[in-house]
Amino acid sequence: MSADDFKRQAAAKALEFVEPGMKLGLGTGSTAKHFVDLLGARVKAGLKVLCVPTSEATRRQAAALAIPLTTLDEVLQLDLTIDGADEFDGDLRLIKGGGGALLREKIVAAASERMIVIADASKRVRMLGAFPLPVEVVRFGAKATRVMIEELAADAGCAGDISLRLKTDGQPFVTDGGNYIYDCAFGSIEEPELLDEALKVVPGVVEHGLFLGLADLAIIGSPAGVEMIEAGFGVDDAV
Ligand code: 5RP
Repeated sequence: MSADDFKRQAAAKALEFVEPGMKLGLGTGSTAKHFVDLLGARVKAGLKVLCVPTSEATRRQAAALAIPLTTLDEVLQLDLTIDGADEFDGDLRLIKGGGGALLREKIVAAASERMIVIADASKRVRMLGAFPLPVEVVRFGAKATRVMIEELAADAGCAGDISLRLKTDGQPFVTDGGNYIYDCAFGSIEEPELLDEALKVVPGVVEHGLFLGLADLAIIGSPAGVEMIEAGFGVDDAV
């Protein structure tokens, strides 16, 4: 089985946590895309849910599948968000934003009673940071913001290359919110909470990809089957 098969396996398991009438947050990325596909099939078969997508890409996919959509202006609280991750550790601290949707993903996760992370086993790490941390910044003064990120991250014990995310045509990647992303290759992030606090101080930073205290459960597709890790409890079971 391929990594993509494991992602789909995790997405299928997550579907078991969806109940009729739920208000759902729909994540972004290749793993979340599997979940939206599977949810679409259930909706077609009669399941009633109402969903808030975390990106324009997911909104288009869900709309094409006739999944009922709403916004966080109409529905202020969601029951459950299902989303992927670029990395997660044993405490279910995440790095997200590889797909550039971290701002809406964090807003939607924070508005949800529960967040389930779906991933293949390659996303599980002992310590966060091998995946460069995405930091979303406003375009105004972006270079000055970059310098401040560097300085404040250093105070939090993190140093490394900070690069503006570019598209394949060499132009800057622009998020759904109209912002830039700096990918910060800090290596091991020993104290994510400290870095979180440091980055919040930078005026040009809109949000960053550390998701701390948001995920309740990780569902991991792996050659050994589907594993689940509950926040605060460690490995739950293998199916
Ligand atoms: C998008 C994200 C994704 O969840 C993350 O990049 C994982 O993507 P994939 O499921 O394709 O591996 O944070 O902003």
